[in-house]
Amino acid sequence: MSVCTSSLPIGVFDSGVGGLTVLRALRELLPNENFLYLGDTARVPYGTKSPESVTKYALQAGGALVREGIKMLVVACNTASAVSIDALAAEYGPLPVVGVVKPGAEAACATTINGKIAVIATESTVNGGAYQRTICSMHPDAEIIAYPCPLFVGLAEEGWVEGELVEAIVARYLEPLFAAFGEVGPDTLVLGCTHFPVLRKAISNVAGSAIRLVDSAETTARTVENILSEAKICNTDKDKGQVSFLATDSAQRFAAVGGSFLGVEIDTNDVRVVDL
Ligand code: DGL
Repeated sequence: MSVCTSSLPIGVFDSGVGGLTVLRALRELLPNENFLYLGDTARVPYGTKSPESVTKYALQAGGALVREGIKMLVVACNTASAVSIDALAAEYGPLPVVGVVKPGAEAACATTINGKIAVIATESTVNGGAYQRTICSMHPDAEIIAYPCPLFVGLAEEGWVEGELVEAIVARYLEPLFAAFGEVGPDTLVLGCTHFPVLRKAISNVAGSAIRLVDSAETTARTVENILSEAKICNTDKDKGQVSFLATDSAQRFAAVGGSFLGVEIDTNDVRVVDL
């Protein structure tokens, strides 16, 4: 494949800073790879937008990364993965295009024992039904209930990730979701949004130890690793890989908020502002 060379970066995009949780998992698993991350911070959130708008934005974000030169496109945004993955693959194939929904669904099926799977995500992801369809295609007997938790996005961006107030909000969303399963509740809860891993502790405290949390970031990183090695495009450079950031709005805000999602500080000077 002429567009793929091993030293090119892996392009990763999200509606904003949330996808840095996916980049974090990718960097942990693939430390030698170079990454180019694009956060469409001027247009976040995607999770409340129509499928037409999400696909238009996703194609523009993907296009910007492709023009920079990448060897693979990772759609870190659950909403864009749920709504626009086919359009992205059609537009940018034969470049490998990987979303987070399929790896998350696979992990949920591998985790559940009682076949009852709860999914929390943005409104657009839930309404589009991609998690429900994908899990169902892998585990036809599964009972899946998906529920939107839009306030979690704001809490994560505000850095309000633990404590009584946060757990009260988490409980307000999760209690009706779990009750909807009836007498036997779910044993698996899919964190179907880039921002939710940041709230993992609060979600886990409310869900209780009987419910296992599935984070699509980790499973997506493993999928990317497999595709790289099957396509023989792993970076063979022994040095630690480089990460560059693009944002469509303020570099300062991207760096200030993004650090907690990536797990390391981001220098404003490392963020280039682009217009899509
Ligand atoms: N990145 C989005 C997702 O994973 C969450 C934020 C948004 O609504 O854009 O669905």
